[in-house]
Amino acid sequence: MSRRLYIQTVGCQMNVLDSELVAAQLLQAGYELVDSPRRADTILLNTCSVRQHAEDKIYSALGRLKHFKDRRPDRIIGVLGCMAQKDRQQILRRAPHVDLIVGPGQLSRVPALLERVAAGERPQIEVSLDRGADDPARVRRSFVQFDPLRTAQARPIPHQAMVRIMFGCDKLCSYCIVPSVRGPEQSRPAEEIAAEVRRLADEGCLEVTLLGQTVNSYRVRSGGRMIRLADLLYRLHEIEGIRRLKFVTNHPRHMTDTLLQAVRDLPKVSPYLHVPAQSGSNRILRRMRRGYTVETYREMLARIRQTIPQAAVTSDFIVGFCGETEEDFQQTVDLVRDARLKNSFIFKYSPRPGTKAAELYADDVPDEVKRRRNNELLALQNAISLADNQPFVGRPVEILVEGPSKVGRKLDHKAATAGRAGAMPTLAWACATPEEARHGQTSLAMTPTGAAPEGEIVQLVGRTVCDRIVVFDGPRELAGRILPVRIEAADACTLFGRIQ
Ligand code: SAH
Ligand code: SF4
Ligand code: F3S
Repeated sequence: MSRRLYIQTVGCQMNVLDSELVAAQLLQAGYELVDSPRRADTILLNTCSVRQHAEDKIYSALGRLKHFKDRRPDRIIGVLGCMAQKDRQQILRRAPHVDLIVGPGQLSRVPALLERVAAGERPQIEVSLDRGADDPARVRRSFVQFDPLRTAQARPIPHQAMVRIMFGCDKLCSYCIVPSVRGPEQSRPAEEIAAEVRRLADEGCLEVTLLGQTVNSYRVRSGGRMIRLADLLYRLHEIEGIRRLKFVTNHPRHMTDTLLQAVRDLPKVSPYLHVPAQSGSNRILRRMRRGYTVETYREMLARIRQTIPQAAVTSDFIVGFCGETEEDFQQTVDLVRDARLKNSFIFKYSPRPGTKAAELYADDVPDEVKRRRNNELLALQNAISLADNQPFVGRPVEILVEGPSKVGRKLDHKAATAGRAGAMPTLAWACATPEEARHGQTSLAMTPTGAAPEGEIVQLVGRTVCDRIVVFDGPRELAGRILPVRIEAADACTLFGRIQ
């Protein structure tokens, strides 16, 4: 069996990590990564269900892949991730040429299931139990923890890594599909996380981003005491070799003073906090079941600013949620104007069948109104982001170099190639469009890149400790270095600099 693999990823960082882990397993099993579905024998799509647009994208990709399969029926086509969990039967109905469907709680089974497909047993379907359809303990167990040994080779940027500290989500926000596709919230043991980070440090990894849907609600009981995110940060901070620690995504209700003090007091922890507000209207927040008011969100912002004055705070907003009036929207505008966030991702509400909001409320805000509100909020946020970036002009900043930026693109994403010189092909993540990346809807292909010629001057991209993107010219082999860059210009998303 030929083993040329192509993986395309849609969705959040959790999915990007899952694709890395699946690729790592398959590389170990003798697969090789190729850069186009045309050259692949096995094509895997790691999918997202958070908005309809993400699902549509996968169905159209599956439509295109039908011709591939018709031409070469031995090609294997697999759907992984959140859509696989949510829509397995519908996927098979709409795309009977799909051979493999695997939910996010079953990804460790992918290599074995691919073998079965290759032996002619198709389709293979492996998903976790539906939430609410069974005893909670059995449902929890059916979302199998999947964090195998890491391979730097499978990482888009070897010196940066994401580490999952929690699975699932228990917040059950009324609009959100994530708790049903990712299952119940479960925190990983602190020891296991520390061991993983230690291994990453040994491999030369400098920056670790801890992942969880509500990462700041992390808690595990160990030796008779409760370990929370702040404790974990103290523990990971001691690991030699790690230079930067980040964590996403936070929930406003769990932004404790203890956590903020840990961010302030631990020099390796980035003063970067992504804490989605979703709306500035209490009526809408209540309908969304977010569990806080706009007053408590503002109070939390004030605490952040007081404890960590240099913190870069970012947020998500949904516009056009069920019943959102102009007055509600205006309250969101007021919040964005006052909050002075570094950046916000703004989404048009997309009803998700199976969620409370879809069941209880009509999707009654017309699409053109959603679009107008989206554009208005985006324009306001862009003006604030630009004003926020301007003070950096003329100043030196310390950046971690990620690698060459995609030709002429100002990317708000880890779209840089790994660019390590040497015989080993490294991997790159390519954003479908910068537009999509900016809207938090990632679409990435995992592809091998050739060894880069040493010394060639290219446009490089790096990040400051507070997650600002810096573009500058330099030799490729600076990838993976932490160095000072003087900023010469800024726009709303990017700082442009020169090596000092
Ligand atoms: N766990 C994270 C993010 C989950 S999904 C958190 O709670 O912050 C990322 C973002 O997608 C959410 O913050 C929300 O702004 C948006 N989102 C989720 N469901 C949506 C829906 N049905 N329609 C539009 N946007 C949605
Ligand atoms: Fe979805 Fe809310 Fe959980 Fe975030 S906290 S994943 S928005 S249910
Ligand atoms: Fe992430 Fe989308 Fe699943 S946002 S958790 S990939 S539904």
